Amino acid sequence: MLGPPGAGKGTQAALLAEKFGVAHVSTGDILRAAVAAETDVGLRAKSYMDAGNLIPDDVMLEVIRERLSDPDAKEGFVLDGFPRTVVQAQALLDLLADAGTPIERVVLIDVPDEAIIERIESRLSCPRCGRVYSMKTRKPRHDQLCDVDETPLVRRSDESEDVVRKRLGIYRDQTMPVIGFYADCGLLRRVDGIGPVTEVTERIAAEIA
Ligand code: AP5
Repeated sequence: MLGPPGAGKGTQAALLAEKFGVAHVSTGDILRAAVAAETDVGLRAKSYMDAGNLIPDDVMLEVIRERLSDPDAKEGFVLDGFPRTVVQAQALLDLLADAGTPIERVVLIDVPDEAIIERIESRLSCPRCGRVYSMKTRKPRHDQLCDVDETPLVRRSDESEDVVRKRLGIYRDQTMPVIGFYADCGLLRRVDGIGPVTEVTERIAAEIA
């Protein structure tokens, strides 16, 4: 799943993973859990994430190799937040070719910058299970508590407008070349990310069916 920060990758990846009965692999969620648990990776990643920068490729490749070897990823997975550089994309292609499980589709969720800033300003997340809410379009049932585990919802440490604008710049410089990489491989499908969440899910499902 490709797209700018706040495009709805996490929201859609979770719904699609459930729909198709496969794992949802979010590198952002893995890193936030590592930061909270103060693991070696988490301690290294925190300052990059807070500043809106990408974590170095060698660290991310180790993280993704380990995660994709987990039993729940054996039947397939929706990748959200990875790859974000051409180096990561090439390494992923090699990794999955070696495993005999090539990528089937790459979906790019298109959302303009103004909508992104608005979406991120309205977002709340559960620090325990990672579920994402919007105070405009996907409110929790009880005031600012997660529907799943009732944990108080939080704003992420990389959500201030200046950090979001920086993440958008990094997306343009480092992640947009990944779009061309997958277009050249014939795997890319573009989906309009504007509209109700369920409609966007249907558009994506139609592209990957
Ligand atoms: P990560 O967590 O992956 O952040 P991101 O890609 O910037 O994306 P977001 O999580 O901000 O947004 P999203 O597209 O998932 O949108 P969401 O569904 O939440 O990465 C965070 C950091 O980790 C990076 O900056 C980097 O430091 C590091 N990192 C991670 N992976 C890395 C890698 N591979 N290499 C290097 N570094 C890495 O939706 C946003 C809001 O919009 C929500 O409130 C949602 O409810 C709402 N919404 C969703 N869909 C709709 C809709 N259709 N209409 C209206 N609102 C909607």
